[in-house]
Amino acid sequence: MNTVANKMEDSNVYTLITGGSHGIGLAMVHECARLGDNLLIVALDEVELYQIGEEIAEKYGVRTDCLGIDLTEPQAPETVFEWCQTEGYVVNRLINNAGFGRSGLFHKIDVRQYIPMMRLNNEVLVKLNYYFLPSMLELPAAQILNMSSIEANMPNPYKAVYTGTKNFVYAFTLALREELKATNVTVSVLCPGPTLTNEDGLKRVKAQGWKAKVLLLMPDEVAKPAIEGMRRGEHVIVPGWRNGLLNRIMYLLPTKPKMAIMEKLFRKYKDEGAS
Ligand SMILES: NC(=O)c1ccc[n+]([C@@H]2O[C@H](COP(=O)([O-])OP(=O)(O)OC[C@H]3O[C@@H](n4cnc5c(N)ncnc54)[C@H](OP(=O)(O)O)[C@@H]3O)[C@@H](O)[C@H]2O)c1
Repeated sequence: MNTVANKMEDSNVYTLITGGSHGIGLAMVHECARLGDNLLIVALDEVELYQIGEEIAEKYGVRTDCLGIDLTEPQAPETVFEWCQTEGYVVNRLINNAGFGRSGLFHKIDVRQYIPMMRLNNEVLVKLNYYFLPSMLELPAAQILNMSSIEANMPNPYKAVYTGTKNFVYAFTLALREELKATNVTVSVLCPGPTLTNEDGLKRVKAQGWKAKVLLLMPDEVAKPAIEGMRRGEHVIVPGWRNGLLNRIMYLLPTKPKMAIMEKLFRKYKDEGAS
């Protein structure tokens, strides 16, 4: 019988990660490779990706392959899946990390900026779960990690659409996880707090002062618990003990005071991103 499990050899089994060229995604690429995973890295910039792929292969002695693709293009998730099929790659770990946000008053941001955000953060993630799951169910063990945010339980005023996309990932992942509980596939949701990944993040940390610094983690501090948690099949992964504590406190607070605190904290982003 020509099942996926029959096609498995160590050399063609891979962890696939989206957005693996920068930030938290790149840190997770390093962590997975350190633990011996072969890697399929998907992101926008193909030239940079191939460089990263070669460096990772050389440093950790694993196999890598890369696909440069704009995941917000229609049919992009289908292209990723077909690429794996054509190349004979068996994906036993899927990490849906690629995503981005915008801040500012909801109605002042050009609606055309929301469409690719919702597509990348939600539609692409759902489609990749959908396409890869059937073959993962045929494997002895497989894991999916979906990127949400600590904001999933703390809706962020002036980032209303982004925060909504992350809440969707949270709910979707937990529901899917429960559907699959009698199978060999675990689905985990990753909820990082502020993580220093790019210039935009640095600007925000400076603007927030000590409040952001208390919670701030570097990408590798997120990647380690994220990959360990995914491998253990944890349901919700909140890297950093301070973020974990804040997440619990905010979960217990009634909605009205919680949202008043959130508005006060994020008011300074009100005028960002206006178009
Ligand atoms: N940073 C934080 O504080 C934080 C906190 C909680 C959750 N998160 C979530 O964590 C994830 C990664 O965030 P990050 O801060 O590490 O991001 P980042 O440093 O900006 O990196 C984003 C990655 O996604 C890729 N990407 C972006 N748009 C793409 C597209 N249209 N098609 C294909 N690839 C695309 C980028 O590829 P290129 O490099 O080729 O452009 C890059 O590899 C996101 O889902 C974000 O919402 C971040």
